[in-house]
Amino acid sequence: MHTKTHILVIFGSTRQGRRGEVVTNWLMDRLATRTDITFELADLRDIPLPFFDSPTSPVYGHIAPEAEHWAAQVDRAEGFIFVTPEYNFGYPAVLKNAIDHLYLPWTHKPAAIVNYGGFSAGYRVAEQLRQVFIELKMVPIREQVGISLVPGVVPNVSDPPDSPSKAFLDRAFNGMINELLWWATALTPARERDQQK
Ligand SMILES: Cc1cc2nc3c(=O)[nH]c(=O)nc-3n(C[C@H](O)[C@H](O)[C@H](O)COP(=O)(O)O)c2cc1C
Repeated sequence: MHTKTHILVIFGSTRQGRRGEVVTNWLMDRLATRTDITFELADLRDIPLPFFDSPTSPVYGHIAPEAEHWAAQVDRAEGFIFVTPEYNFGYPAVLKNAIDHLYLPWTHKPAAIVNYGGFSAGYRVAEQLRQVFIELKMVPIREQVGISLVPGVVPNVSDPPDSPSKAFLDRAFNGMINELLWWATALTPARERDQQK
């Protein structure tokens, strides 16, 4: 039996000059302070998946050959943190494509969201993603982190370490990771029981 929970961070912006790296780096730094987890980053820029065009739904276990490495990464995770920008009130197409390539590796696992954007901090994107999680039988985590990339607006990762804004973000992170781990701890043994049947 393992004691540390394995978390996969999925970074959903691949565009040139993307600004979300500051958000992902902030999150990875926070995760590194935890002794109760292991974690890895899935940067979708490094996972070149074709547009999903499989004749068979992944719900039946089918995985395209180009997605096998991606499937293994998702499969070994016990919980997910999606780091996503908001584009036109929605999530990036590249993120949806990566999600749609798989089904079974997502199921019965908790999924948290770190959303970022302009003045809205990308909160609308989280609501849309949660709807997708439900169809994939993931457990959407209520606690979330919302980050604005506009200087001086709502919590901003570029603010000084001793600022109220940074303290707010740390509190939001702690709430999110604790809830994610609560669900991961509950669901991992349940999945293992299923596999023994
Ligand atoms: C095509 C596009 C649409 C955008 N739409 C929104 C939006 O709906 N809400 C928002 O808060 N920011 C929006 N923005 C601003 C982005 O949140 C901001 O550019 C952010 O840096 C994007 O993340 P990235 O640089 O990591 O890709 C949009 C940006 C782009 C490029």
